[in-house]
Amino acid sequence: MTHERIRRLRPASSLEGSIRVPSDKSIAHRALICAALANGRSKITLRAPGADLMSTISALKSLGASMSAQKSGDLTLVSVYGLGDGSSLGALSSGVGDCGNSGTSMRLMAGAGASGSGLATLVGDESLSRRPMQRVADPLRAMGAEIELNEGHAPLVVRGRRSLRAIEHTLTVASAQVLGAVLFAALAADGTTTVHVPGHVRDHTERMLSALGADVQRTADANGATTAIHGPSGLQRFEMLVPGDFSSASAWIVAGALHADANIRLTDVGLNPTRTALLEVMRRLGADIEVLAGRADSGEPVGDIVVHGGQRLHAISLGADDVAPLIDELPLLAVAMAAAEGISEVRGAHELRIKESDRIAAIGAALTAAGVEFEELEDGWRIRADRPRDAQVITHGDHRIAMAMAVAAWIGVATSVELDDPDCVAVSYPSFLSDARSIGAFA
Ligand code: S3P
Repeated sequence: MTHERIRRLRPASSLEGSIRVPSDKSIAHRALICAALANGRSKITLRAPGADLMSTISALKSLGASMSAQKSGDLTLVSVYGLGDGSSLGALSSGVGDCGNSGTSMRLMAGAGASGSGLATLVGDESLSRRPMQRVADPLRAMGAEIELNEGHAPLVVRGRRSLRAIEHTLTVASAQVLGAVLFAALAADGTTTVHVPGHVRDHTERMLSALGADVQRTADANGATTAIHGPSGLQRFEMLVPGDFSSASAWIVAGALHADANIRLTDVGLNPTRTALLEVMRRLGADIEVLAGRADSGEPVGDIVVHGGQRLHAISLGADDVAPLIDELPLLAVAMAAAEGISEVRGAHELRIKESDRIAAIGAALTAAGVEFEELEDGWRIRADRPRDAQVITHGDHRIAMAMAVAAWIGVATSVELDDPDCVAVSYPSFLSDARSIGAFA
């Protein structure tokens, strides 16, 4: 498929078929890091991994991990020879790990490097080098790791210590990446580390560490979560087929629900309840979505999602508590809101300004270009549909802006969309446009 043919996207006449989305990035980053620190040979199977996961693999290798990736069709089998010894945790060594565009790689690896045996330097691309890293440096320093930053940003240099201090710590921001980093470091600390998180965060780290033999407990309520982990602890080798990524599936959930003639089945998608809040919000908008629960792997539930189009959707207003569990899906939700009847609002989404791009400004400019009435707020937006136009979209190299605006084109929020950089979807979803073709988006 050439770029000439896919650069301009237009409303699709119908969307019909079945899609297997790429493996969940959040789970896969953690699986790769755990396998590198574990004892023995692990095998991780990834479906259609994007550039972010390849960044974690290459950065881990640069820091001494032994892993090889073999492709077979759309699956990539990663064999990892863990650095663990007996029952003790493996140690990353000195090196420069390039995390590319991936904030999750950098923040989680800062935690894994904190108990390393050398000096780990973590670098990233221009977007990642603008993102805040103080949030992860603070708790790791409290545990005894030496960390240098460049005015709060990457390069992030970690001097590992084989034995760290167990701490009781309240995170300044509700971030699963920072929580994950502290939990990885806590595996090398003597005693119980307790982390309080002031809000909603996904629980993939806890599920995985617990499945691999660590003693970890999480309690959560409406105000946040507390996780306690007992160290020192090694990790057991494992085999895992990483389930489909709910955030990638969300593109088709929104496209299917907002299209007049759509029936889309998404197979083997991760259904961890800390990730699936979009389903509830889409149902509140009036969408027709079925969930068929299936198996579970390494503590992560998996199943199919079936979405039917043709419903009239109506406006909704969301506040901070609603948006935190669907932060990565908000650009797509903005598109859904732009297709619903009435004025929708999102508040409490400040974190969107410091993702791969300033996503409030980026989706605002893109939807405004498409003819949507978009009022930009400091922490969100107010949206109302207006008269669709042809839109030239600046993605800022941000995969989620590109995918959200492609969906906007297919469901007719714009009369056409021209993406400046369609290739940026490969960060998380390299087969996005070919999957779109398979359900008739280009017919
Ligand atoms: C992620 C956590 C979230 C999310 C990101 C992936 C993770 O970020 O936005 O895409 O895998 O832990 P924060 O930790 O900044 O909330």
